Amino acid sequence: MASPELDTARALARQAGDLLRDGLGRATTVDRKSPINLVTEIDHAAEKLVIAGLSARFPDHHVVAEESATERPAAGPCWYIDPLDGTTNFVHGLPHCCVSIALARHGRIDVGVVYDPFRDELFEAERGRGARLNGAALEVSATRSIADSLLVTGFPYDRRDHLPFYMSYMEAFMMRARDIRRFGSAALDLCYVAAGRFDGFWEWKLQPWDTAAGCIIVEEAGGRVSDFDGGEYDPWLPRILATNGRVHGEAVEVLGGLPSSPDAGGA
Ligand code: IPD
Ligand code: CA
Ligand code: CA
Repeated sequence: MASPELDTARALARQAGDLLRDGLGRATTVDRKSPINLVTEIDHAAEKLVIAGLSARFPDHHVVAEESATERPAAGPCWYIDPLDGTTNFVHGLPHCCVSIALARHGRIDVGVVYDPFRDELFEAERGRGARLNGAALEVSATRSIADSLLVTGFPYDRRDHLPFYMSYMEAFMMRARDIRRFGSAALDLCYVAAGRFDGFWEWKLQPWDTAAGCIIVEEAGGRVSDFDGGEYDPWLPRILATNGRVHGEAVEVLGGLPSSPDAGGA
């Protein structure tokens, strides 16, 4: 039986997902958090809905949500919410975006739900209980080498300032992998690794609300999530590598050969 936390997150992700489905390509207020980082009234409405639902059910829990972002809480259960992951897709009427909700306890992600309302795909996981897609067990791919891998990545919103640096990562994997995709929703990128649709994912400068839910879904599907050097992942870290586990070591090796910051020779 699912925990009350998972049941609540699932129900709220579906309700917020309805807002995304109805609002696709119809946002009337598109504000710019930076020249290329957009936010719409649907991001705000979906976030309000999820926060209200969680606060009503779990009044003592902390909430860290993208559009009302707060500091990392020092202690206590904390929900991470991305009400609309893939806002650029959403604004352009491209139906590839989702709602992402995760719960961390004792500094560890315990529950994750990612809902794609356009394919009606609900990804979920609870620590130690496996990952599921619409109720069916999820498993990562069996791919054993980067050469046979289909990888996915994304680019942070400061990409114009450090383009050669980020492209050096793209280039390194492009030279080794079967191919690379950039779909525009980090939470779904992670769920697609969990589902075996992709073999691996890396990205710079994601935020905890982008990755927290997807991380536990990957891990519970048998995959691995780490820092670029293979060290333990924390959703507040600026680097994430998630794979099916089998190609993880090889991916860490590739990443280890790249500059670690734009000032280290890659900018
Ligand atoms: C973005 C998406 C995108 C990733 C960006 C994220 P948003 O989230 O996940 O795939 O490349 O770095 O910020 O802004 O659409 O919620
Ligand atoms: Ca996001
Ligand atoms: Ca978002």
